[in-house]
Amino acid sequence: MLNPSDFIKKSIEDIKNTVGDGKAVIALSGGVDSSVTSVLTQKALGDNLIAVFVNHGLLREGEVEQVIKTFESRVNFKYVDASEEFLKELHNVSDPEEKRKIIGDVFIRVFERVAKDVDAEYLVQGTIAPDWIESEGKIKTHHNLALPKGLVLKIVEPVRELYKDEVRSIGTELGLPEDIIYRQPYPGPGLAVRIIGALTKKRISICRKANAIVCEEIEKEELNKELWQYFAVLTDTKVTGVKGDQRDFGYLVVLRMIESLDAMTANVPELPWSVIQTISKRITSEIPEVTHVALSISDKPPSTIEFA
Ligand code: XMP
Repeated sequence: MLNPSDFIKKSIEDIKNTVGDGKAVIALSGGVDSSVTSVLTQKALGDNLIAVFVNHGLLREGEVEQVIKTFESRVNFKYVDASEEFLKELHNVSDPEEKRKIIGDVFIRVFERVAKDVDAEYLVQGTIAPDWIESEGKIKTHHNLALPKGLVLKIVEPVRELYKDEVRSIGTELGLPEDIIYRQPYPGPGLAVRIIGALTKKRISICRKANAIVCEEIEKEELNKELWQYFAVLTDTKVTGVKGDQRDFGYLVVLRMIESLDAMTANVPELPWSVIQTISKRITSEIPEVTHVALSISDKPPSTIEFA
């Protein structure tokens, strides 16, 4: 059994010994792994760790504000809004793997700029055990935004041997808020893998709003504790609907709400019908561009968790 306070003490020593007076950067996404790693490393390095939060324009509603609020007082925090740069490169790109590649490449470019600016020698990463144990034979190129290949930075991975539940216990010991520690896993490329087809500002906004509705309703009913991930997918299928007495032609949105232990397999649990209906009604009434909501009932395998 991991003793969080012993682990923290030992890690702080190890990080100090490795980095000394050098400067280090970490890509802080607000996900549990990078959050815990940032705060842990800050304890060892103080302001010599610069935690860089890159907004790629594909984040969820309220996410930027939440991450800024949580971390600006906890670490030497640097917010980089690169959303325009990402969206420009993603213009007219529909293939999911191509989207991932572009997002990874632009991320590296943006991150590299910051690392050079602050004269960093070390790159701290929130790699955890499943990231390297399971990193071979993945169906999709993934998973975490890639390591900056062009950068000559020495790597430090303080939680490399830990599993998710252990990382969470370290986070609790470090006083991180529950909404960060128990945040549902969110893919590095963000809404890009939840939007089938082109990534326009309009389509990103539709997907973001639909996702926010799913999260609000699931969390209101406290179903989030039972679910691994819950989200909405914006498809490129247009379907006929009716608004008032007029024919309407809008998007099909799919709800994906799954249980899983490790994302390797997943299943779709039976959820209260009233919740599903509320989500569906809210999406079609609050997002005029959507005419139809469908529920995904496919497990993994044969499906994957994300649609793209
Ligand atoms: P799939 O869709 O492969 O997803 O069943 C398994 C888990 O991985 C997440 N996922 C990603 N995470 N970059 C990430 O950081 C990605 O490109 C990516 N694609 C999928 C997905 O959310 C699920 O938890």
